Amino acid sequence: MRKPFVAGNWKMNKTGEESRLLVAELLPELQKISGVDCAVCPPFPYLVSLSNMLAGSGIGLGAQNMHWEASGAYTGEVAPKMVAEFCQYVILGHSERRAYFGETDEMINKKVKAALANGITPIMCVGETLAENEAGRTAEVVSRQTRLGLEGIPAGEAQKVVIAYEPVWAIGTGRAATSEQAQAVHANVVRTTLKELLGEAAAQAIRIQYGGSVNAKNAAELFAMPDIDGALVGGASLKAPDFVAIVQAAAARG
Ligand code: PGA
Repeated sequence: MRKPFVAGNWKMNKTGEESRLLVAELLPELQKISGVDCAVCPPFPYLVSLSNMLAGSGIGLGAQNMHWEASGAYTGEVAPKMVAEFCQYVILGHSERRAYFGETDEMINKKVKAALANGITPIMCVGETLAENEAGRTAEVVSRQTRLGLEGIPAGEAQKVVIAYEPVWAIGTGRAATSEQAQAVHANVVRTTLKELLGEAAAQAIRIQYGGSVNAKNAAELFAMPDIDGALVGGASLKAPDFVAIVQAAAARG
């Protein structure tokens, strides 16, 4: 059985002080919950202090991006080893990185490989835009992103990857996919593509999170679906009670 995994994507929010307050609020509550993996993904400057706060807590820490090269003349970039020093996870290929920073499937594939080579669990994001959705291209787009993102990675390694299906039209809009819509893409597109690519065992082992306007109210319904193995949470991860409620809903999945 796949253990549910809930991660908070803080995006470009919070001051250093606010980030420590949020983690201080989350820690005792999240530690009471068992049967679910959870992590927070704050901006880079807060990773060091938050990794100290989270040490030994069982709550994971993730970065929101990284470069694929080991070192060198890449002004403004952060290398996999630097992330690995503080984090267990890294979000890769988020739709905001694809849309605003020109990330391609090829770049994301290099990042996924670099994360795995450095012992970091990648949370690889896939998802169609509103225009692609309305044009009936969801399966084609999500399947392509999944295949190209994992290209050249053997099944034994690829099964460590977490996939986040995040329809772009659902991100930050308050309009989440219905649990049936999300389940259909998770099972019929993502997991089916994983099966073709990696075989049955790896496809069944890989966790597929849903992301896009997940909140304390809709989480339980989403997690009731057999192929929704957790969530990548944006806005609702910035408030401790909301994030805790979502993690509790994932634990209740059984
Ligand atoms: P949201 O963001 O929960 O605010 O919609 C999700 C994400 O972009 O990861």
